[in-house]
Amino acid sequence: MIYLVMCLSVVNTVFGDVSYTIPEELKRGSVVGNLAKDIGLDAKTLSSRKARLNTDDGSKRYFEIERNAGTLIVGDAIDREELCGSRPSCSLKYQLVLEKPLEIHGISVQIQDINDNAPQFSTDLINLEIQESANKGTQFLLSEAHDADVLQNAVQGYSLEKNDHFSLQIRTNSDGMKYSELVMEKELDREQQQEHNLILTAFDNGTPQKSASVVIHINVLDANDNVPVFSQPIYRVELPENAPLDTVVVTVSATDADEGINGEVTYELSRVPDKVARTFSLDKASGQIKVTGPIDFEKENIYEMRVQAKDGLGSASNVKVIIEITDVNDNAPAIVVQSLNDAVPENSVAGTEVGIINVQDKDSGSNQHIHCTIQGNVPFKLNPSIKNYYSILTTGELDREFIAYYNLTITAIDEGTPPLSSFKTIQISVSDVNDNPPVFEHQSYSAYVTENNKPGSSVCSVTARDPDWRQNGTVFYSLLPSEVNGVPVSSYVSINGDTGVIHALRAFDYEQFRSFKVQVVARDNGSPPLSSNVTVSVFITDENDNSPQILYPTPEVNSFMTEMVPKAALSGSLVSKVIAVDADSGQNAWLSYQIVKSTDPGLFTIGLHSGEIRAQRDISESDSMKQNLVISVKDNGQPSLSTTCAVYLLISDNLAEVPELKDMSYEESNSKLTSYLIIALVSVSTFFLTFIILIVAIRICHRRKPRLLFDGAVAIPSAYLPPNYADVDGTGTLRSAYNYDAYMTTGSRTSDFKFVTSYNDNTLPSGTTLKRSPGDNSDCLNFTSLDFTENGSKFSTLVIAVFFWAPLEIAGNV
Ligand SMILES: *[C@@H]1O[C@H](CO)[C@@H](O)[C@H](O)[C@H]1NC(C)=O
Ligand SMILES: *[C@@H]1O[C@H](CO)[C@@H](O)[C@H](O)[C@H]1NC(C)=O
Ligand SMILES: *[C@@H]1O[C@H](CO)[C@@H](O)[C@H](O)[C@H]1NC(C)=O
Repeated sequence: MIYLVMCLSVVNTVFGDVSYTIPEELKRGSVVGNLAKDIGLDAKTLSSRKARLNTDDGSKRYFEIERNAGTLIVGDAIDREELCGSRPSCSLKYQLVLEKPLEIHGISVQIQDINDNAPQFSTDLINLEIQESANKGTQFLLSEAHDADVLQNAVQGYSLEKNDHFSLQIRTNSDGMKYSELVMEKELDREQQQEHNLILTAFDNGTPQKSASVVIHINVLDANDNVPVFSQPIYRVELPENAPLDTVVVTVSATDADEGINGEVTYELSRVPDKVARTFSLDKASGQIKVTGPIDFEKENIYEMRVQAKDGLGSASNVKVIIEITDVNDNAPAIVVQSLNDAVPENSVAGTEVGIINVQDKDSGSNQHIHCTIQGNVPFKLNPSIKNYYSILTTGELDREFIAYYNLTITAIDEGTPPLSSFKTIQISVSDVNDNPPVFEHQSYSAYVTENNKPGSSVCSVTARDPDWRQNGTVFYSLLPSEVNGVPVSSYVSINGDTGVIHALRAFDYEQFRSFKVQVVARDNGSPPLSSNVTVSVFITDENDNSPQILYPTPEVNSFMTEMVPKAALSGSLVSKVIAVDADSGQNAWLSYQIVKSTDPGLFTIGLHSGEIRAQRDISESDSMKQNLVISVKDNGQPSLSTTCAVYLLISDNLAEVPELKDMSYEESNSKLTSYLIIALVSVSTFFLTFIILIVAIRICHRRKPRLLFDGAVAIPSAYLPPNYADVDGTGTLRSAYNYDAYMTTGSRTSDFKFVTSYNDNTLPSGTTLKRSPGDNSDCLNFTSLDFTENGSKFSTLVIAVFFWAPLEIAGNV
């Protein structure tokens, strides 16, 4: 009302017109002014003059004229905001029309604003999206608040709820409206606070003051201001070797505080060595590191790689991944023979080093600790040395002849779980030492040889074995020098040095000797050689090689000998006896006698084995006086040998009765003997004369050139003179002259036999030739200096004896 009064008081009239000022929103009927008075009219005339208000444009009339009082009253409530909007002045113009006379007065009513509207924001909420990366000072325009009122009653200012980040800047735009801007005072961090709600208040200056508030909702937009962060500063994992493919080793994980694409982390390997790339793969999305290749601790025991985590916009960070490979006992120990003696001599002492081995295991730790042993019961052991070296030593005596080589199985086992082992077999041979002498198969040997064997025939064979190796076990045979009957045994037998076969070198004669012993030595070829010997007894067995020899009647003289048989001899009386011997023995010497021819068969009989000739019947007168018997003496050998002899019997009591008994054979023999005697005598006489002449001649020429008297003479060794019928071995049998050839070997080592000349020719003893007298200066033989007068008779006796003996011997043989 005060306002109204004040306004009313300010009414003035312009050009006879009146103007009023009223506040808006007056009630109907409120008096605006006393129109009649103000214009200077008589209020009473208004009705008669048909006073009325006209508008120029026929628009709505808000006022009426109270004709009786002549006042202008509010006809309808006026809303200035509706009428004039935001125009600062708002006036309504009317014309007051009066008739009689027509009078027109302008009436202007100024409508004054009252603060009847509060400021108003168009929305309840102001949504702001602000990048967290926005800088300090950045301004954000806020939507202004509207107030339908004008001037003071319009929005005059804003205020902002107190906060850390923003302040408010109030500005006036060109049409005088106030608006505000949000100014960033402090950077936002989405990761710290994602949303901010601020209350913005707009106020006017009306009376009473009115205000309106709105919430500013600030959504902090993410900026890619965070790099991915790994869950661990370093990834260190252990992976057993031989892990199968696709084993997940480790999953790296990084988080990015950013949002959306800025927070989408992918992984990749950065700066990867080839070996890592071959062995591991990284899942881009999940960060799983998987095995893609073989993992061998022995090749590579640690892998290092860098994994990069990257967000969608490429901010990245790195982390180190260390994969330590742990050892698995996947390598068996390896046995390496460093050196090995080809052979150990069998006489090596215990503890001799034979070889060196080395064991290796590629694993590590306890998987690498190895135990090494030699399997089986062998005389070898391993002696550990430094750094998995072992020497192989013998532990006992070796005997090549018992075990020639050993297969040593060396086992190496490591300490892993489960343990792995390996083994190696090495062969150690035992080399020979000549420690075994040859040993004959038998303690002694006996050989039986039939006499008259062929020279060169084998007698027997000896064998000695030597278990040593090669030349240490190669046996050679030889004879030990010895003598049999004064003759070296090597002239009887020889031995094949290689085969041990003993050969006879000559024909043996049972009648000469029946057995002899030979010592055979078997010697190996070692150095020094070892030998042993054995006795071979050679027994010569008899063969029927001697025909019976008739001793009586003596063969040479039996022709002349005649047995006298008394005429009165009765049946059964012993007439004569044939005595025969046989040099053989046994059956070969068992003689039997038979009459093969007789003058009067039936008169005499001969004892089959006694050789006694007996009358078979009484001798009668009618029997012929001369009885000749031919008797065969036969031995019992196979085949048997026989000799015959003739026995002349004379049935007579008186030898004188038979002067004509000499028969032709007697005469012949006699004359033969006589002629021999004559030749002998002539020879002796001639020799004697020649000798005398020789002596005389020598005496005459003292100084003549000497001549070897017996030059070319053959001196026969007495030992090899035909030992006719000499009783050699005391057996009582007789033996005949013999001659033989001998085979001699050139050496016991070869089997070649070489025929040499007659033994007799070869072995003339030098001692039996005549010698020169050492002290004699004369050129003549000392034979010549013999005192002929003193020794002449002796000498001549010798000469005569020799020259008589020779023809007699010849005669005897004949
Ligand atoms: C030794 O090993 C060899 C093969 O290397 C085999 O022929 C021989 O029979 C083995 N000897 C022994 C005594 O085991
Ligand atoms: C024979 O034995 C000797 C040692 O007595 C030895 O040195 C030699 O090597 C052996 N010979 C063979 C062929 O084994
Ligand atoms: C023959 O062997 C015996 C032992 O068997 C030995 O006493 C003797 O000396 C050996 N003789 C020769 C000549 O080697």
